[in-house]
This record gives sequence, C-alpha cells and structure tokens, in this order.
Amino acid sequence: MKLEQFPDPYLDIPWQDLGARVRVSGSDVAVTLGYPAAGMREALAGRLAAFLGVDHVDLDLEFRAPDGRGPGPIKHIIAVASGKGGVGKSTTAVNLALALDREGARVGLLDADIYGPSQGMMLGVPEGRRPEIVSRPGKPGGEDDRFFVPIKAHGIQAMSMSFLVTEKTPMVWRGPMVSGALQQLLGQTLWDELDYLIVDMPPGTGDIQLTLSQRVPVAGAVIVTTPQDIALIDARKGIEMFRKVDIPVLGVVENMSTFRCPECGHESHIFGAAGGGRIAEEFATPLLGQLPLTLEIREQADGGTPTVARDPEGEIAAIYRDAARHMAAELWRLTSAGDRSGAVPITMSDD
Ligand SMILES: Nc1ncnc2c1ncn2[C@@H]1O[C@H](COP(=O)(O)OP(=O)(O)OP(=O)(O)O)[C@@H](O)[C@H]1O
Ligand SMILES: [Mg+2]
Repeated sequence: MKLEQFPDPYLDIPWQDLGARVRVSGSDVAVTLGYPAAGMREALAGRLAAFLGVDHVDLDLEFRAPDGRGPGPIKHIIAVASGKGGVGKSTTAVNLALALDREGARVGLLDADIYGPSQGMMLGVPEGRRPEIVSRPGKPGGEDDRFFVPIKAHGIQAMSMSFLVTEKTPMVWRGPMVSGALQQLLGQTLWDELDYLIVDMPPGTGDIQLTLSQRVPVAGAVIVTTPQDIALIDARKGIEMFRKVDIPVLGVVENMSTFRCPECGHESHIFGAAGGGRIAEEFATPLLGQLPLTLEIREQADGGTPTVARDPEGEIAAIYRDAARHMAAELWRLTSAGDRSGAVPITMSDD
C-alpha cells in the first residue's frame, strides 16, 4: 500500500485527498500535516509501520498550517464558546491554546470576555502588568499607529481586557462599545505570526458573539458544554448561532463529564451521562474530548499554570492535546475541501 492512501487518524480521509506531503525513503518517512501533531509522533510511526507492513519507520512529522483567512499575521481564528456561563470555556480555551503550542503550532489567545476577563489569572500574568505599547508608521502624512505587544505566557501570546484595566476601573460597556473594544483589542495587538488565535468568548449568544462572528473572520468554533440538560440546550443555541452566520463548528468539548473521586478513583456521572456526545451526533460534528471534573484542572487553571502547561505529558493534558489535534484537523479538512489551490503537493519516492 502506498502511504498516500493512509487514512488520517482523525479525519479518516486519505492523506492524499487532504493535500498532505508524504515522502518515503526506505524506513525513513517524512510527513507534513495541516495540523500540529508532535504529541502523536510515536503512535503514528507505529500505525504507519503496520500500514506499510514493515518493522518500524523513522517518522519525521512536520506541520504546515493551511492557508487561512487572516486577518494580517493570523492564519486562523478559532472561537471557543458556549451558550451557558461557567461551563469551563476559559479553562478549555487556555488548555486548547497551550495544547496547540505543545503540538508545534504558533498560538495566540484573545480573551474576548470584556465583562469578566479571566485569562490574565489563568495564564499567571501578575496583576497590574501592562502590555508594552509600540508605534508603527501609519498612513503617509498621518500620525503613527500604536499597538499593544501581546504578553507571552507559557509559550503563547496573550491579550486580555484584564491587561488594560484595573479592578478599580468600573467597566460599564454597552453593546456597540463592547464590539468596538473587541475589534480594537484584536486589531491593535501586534500578533507575531500566528497559526491559530484562540478566542475565549464570553458566555451567551448575544451581541458580542454575533459581532465577533460577523466582523471578524472566524474560521471555526468549538462549543464547550457540560452533560447537564440545561447546558445542552444552550450549547444547541450556540451551535445554531454559528451555523446562522456560516461559521463551521469544529466540534464539541464536554467538560466536567465525570467526577473522579480523589480518594478511591471512582468515576461518577454527576451531571448526567454522554450529553456532549448526543449534541455532537445531533449536529454531525465531532466530540473532540471529554474532561473529568477534577481538583487539579481547577487549581492549576485558577492558579496561573493550566494543566497542559503544568503537566504536558500527563493524562489530562493528553485529552486536551488530542482534542486540539482533532480540532485543528477538522479545520484542515474544511480548508482543503473548499479550495485546493493552496494545497501542499504530494511527492512520492521509493528510493
Ligand atoms: N474540568 C474541570 N474540573 C474542575 N474544575 C473546572 C473544570 N473546568 C473548569 N473548572 C473550574 O470551574 C470554574 C469555571 O470555569 P471557567 O472560568 O473556565 O468557565 P467559563 O465558562 O469560562 O465561565 P464564564 O461563563 O464565567 O466565562 C473555574 O474555577 C474553573 O477552574
Ligand atoms: Mg470565561
């Protein structure tokens, strides 16, 4: 079997049809995928060896982000959203962003929760730390444009309203101001060549969500839900909102799926069972991952070093990393299905 026929582990579509670059030379295999996958290199090498019917392959696994819609130095904007508040959007957004980074992508995180920004805390950015401001020449004859330099934390570039205001500054935003602030935050940040910008959305399906979806070229959305019925109703609303504005839903993350007892390790479905899976099935979108309700996820996120940064090789990080690869793979499928002109050609050689 030719390796170009190998079905992608997440998409179940032959690599050839996705525009992957595959080179084989003896037991050396070099593959360039459209999603970052450093964490599955070894497992993939095993599967490729089995597929080719050889003892082992030396796999050189590379990543090249598919061409995106921008804007500017950003290839793909991914919104992490939910209809309901408090289901763990911010926790999921930051861990997915860190996971993409660990998998080999260049990643930014924009905290779009203007009312209750939490990424400053989750990324451990000290209270009161302000982004640097730099000037760039503006229009000829005009004034210089001023930009915020995103704050680097745990390897990713971050921007949040919490970097610009203090707890003492009351924020009384109204609809148009919120959209304006958000667009400003996105456009006036000097992002440094991002494969993905993860946007942590505020809860709800109102103003901010609609504006963001309409004015910002969002490539795809990830919906976070808990298995509770009430959260599922809101997750449905969220999916429908993105569909309405033609933003593809890349998948669903079910958070707080089970409670793992720290004493005995027993898992119980305290919020009901498999709700995320049902929603995913109903909307024909993948269930990207299921995260248990654990003390470590909460303590690490709220303590400024989210689980994927604290323990990137651990069991929980593995779930986030798998979800991140899957999500980015879905985006690759969408971009390679629509427009093949930017696809990476396949080269095969058996020498
Ligand atoms: N899987 C989990 N296990 C344990 N605690 C969690 C988990 N996911 C999130 N949490 C905790 O639950 C709380 C709410 O999470 P988070 O802030 O991510 O929710 P949110 O959906 O962003 O909320 P909001 O709607 O206010 O923006 C936080 O204290 C977080 O640490
Ligand atoms: Mg939040």
